Amino acid sequence: MKELIFATHNQNKVDEIKMIFKEYGIKSLAEIDYREEIDETAQTLEGNALLKANYIFEVYKTPVFADDSGLEVEALDGAPGVYSARYAGEPKNHEKNNAKLLSALQNETNRKAQFRTVIAYITKNTQLCFEGVVTGTIATEIRGKGGFGYDPLFIPDGYTKTFGELPREVKLACSHRSNAMAKLYTHLKSLT
Ligand code: IMP
Repeated sequence: MKELIFATHNQNKVDEIKMIFKEYGIKSLAEIDYREEIDETAQTLEGNALLKANYIFEVYKTPVFADDSGLEVEALDGAPGVYSARYAGEPKNHEKNNAKLLSALQNETNRKAQFRTVIAYITKNTQLCFEGVVTGTIATEIRGKGGFGYDPLFIPDGYTKTFGELPREVKLACSHRSNAMAKLYTHLKSLT
């Protein structure tokens, strides 16, 4: 079985990816006993994904991928974007982020937004990025308890409910992260 490190400490993401990449021995940072946080100091999603993947590749010299995601709101010129996790400041707090977003969009009629993920994949000979996007609109109030982050405010196109209200399977089928992961998966399959 081919081994592939997923440079993340987020167990939800690891569980999600293991369902898609069944024939790959995906190892999270916890599973290779790497406990340190990798600082996300870049100013783009691509930059942070590459930074994390390169960092771990340099330590383990094993194929690795890392992801970075954010919510991009059209009326806010793409904010909070790469700063989504800490939009309302330190320490990161999803409720405060959502409250700040609602207030930034008060009286705003253009509520278009997208979640975007970039996955960076690094091997000895390769450095590739895969992007995944899901477009939608920002609700006018918090709706639903499912998911995490901005999910209770994000209504994906084609639906009337937020990711916080929709069943988990719906999000898994269309999310930014799933789209990017599917592209990485297709790439890996093309090599076999
Ligand atoms: P990360 O790079 O995947 O850790 O995402 C950074 C931040 O973007 C998170 O802390 C959330 O605020 C937001 N975010 C990313 N993906 C999602 C999602 O699927 N639902 C809701 N919020 C998300």
